[in-house]
Amino acid sequence: MKSEYLPYPAIIDSIEQESFDTRTFRVVFTDEKIREGFEYRQGQFAQVSCIGAGEAPISISSSPHEREILEFTIRKMGRLTAALHKLKVGDALYIRGPYGNSFPFEEVKGKNLLFIAGGIGLPPLRSVIRLVFHHRGDFGKVKILYGARTPGELCFKKEIKRWGKLPDAQVLLTVDKPDKDWKGNVGVVTTLWDKTEISGKEAVAYVCGPPVMIKFVVKTLLDSGFEEDKIFITLERYMKCGIGKCGHCNIGGKFVCIDGPVFAYSQIKKFPEKENAI
Ligand SMILES: Cc1cc2nc3c(=O)[nH]c(=O)nc-3n(C[C@H](O)[C@H](O)[C@H](O)COP(=O)(O)OP(=O)(O)OC[C@H]3O[C@@H](n4cnc5c(N)ncnc54)[C@H](O)[C@@H]3O)c2cc1C
Ligand code: FES
Repeated sequence: MKSEYLPYPAIIDSIEQESFDTRTFRVVFTDEKIREGFEYRQGQFAQVSCIGAGEAPISISSSPHEREILEFTIRKMGRLTAALHKLKVGDALYIRGPYGNSFPFEEVKGKNLLFIAGGIGLPPLRSVIRLVFHHRGDFGKVKILYGARTPGELCFKKEIKRWGKLPDAQVLLTVDKPDKDWKGNVGVVTTLWDKTEISGKEAVAYVCGPPVMIKFVVKTLLDSGFEEDKIFITLERYMKCGIGKCGHCNIGGKFVCIDGPVFAYSQIKKFPEKENAI
């Protein structure tokens, strides 16, 4: 019997440099059966590894409707991600998964959608954003608010431009530190609230970013009338196994790897305060 911890080998098909420390790796499984059978949902993650450097949970940044595409957008942080950033097209990496739950999709059809991301928080949201645009007619207005420290750290720049031109879609960007060419907003992501009309009426919010950003975003969403069970947040926790066995990702009696990583705010607010979910 195959061990649950045994990853599938894959080859890097292409690498896109998103910013000075972030790259998107498109990968293809070497085994044809795995390639054809690997299915995932928007918001899920996989344990990604390369030999001698360990493994880490990484969100799948491509969309489930693109059956032949599997992408991971990875920021260079420590040992593993530095090793992944050294890999070139044609090199091997290893993947086990997909793991975790997913962002709601079918159940929010007909609603207006608001996506709010900070920094490396856009990759998991990109998966559901792409899926939503693929089924454009099934949803109301789509707004995407995205902030990064500097203009150079914004991911998916070309794709973001395309999203902003789609019918009934709006993309608003902000940075903390502008450069001389930046003509957009400066400030944290919640300062974009004044640039557009945002109301919780018939709307669902998807949020991913650093905990401090999430905290302020949730407060602003609640003040704008969003219901607690219509605010969906991906949580990042230290993980080891990714499959509910080691207990590393436990929070408020839930395992982020299997019960999450996506939680409604109505669930998160019940987690003990000392566990600092957001
Ligand atoms: C569900 C999930 C999805 C993720 N998706 C992505 C993704 O799409 N792209 C991406 O670049 N990263 C993602 N991450 C984060 C990534 O797993 C970590 O940055 C990972 O530890 C990097 O491994 P490393 O060996 O390079 O760095 P490490 O040596 O493990 O860590 C480098 C630094 O990051 C800190 N750190 C590591 N993991 C976490 C964590 N979970 N929470 C807070 N701080 C942490 C460490 O304390 C250290 O300071 C995700 C994490 C989770 C739990
Ligand atoms: S990472 Fe082991 S239980 Fe979640």
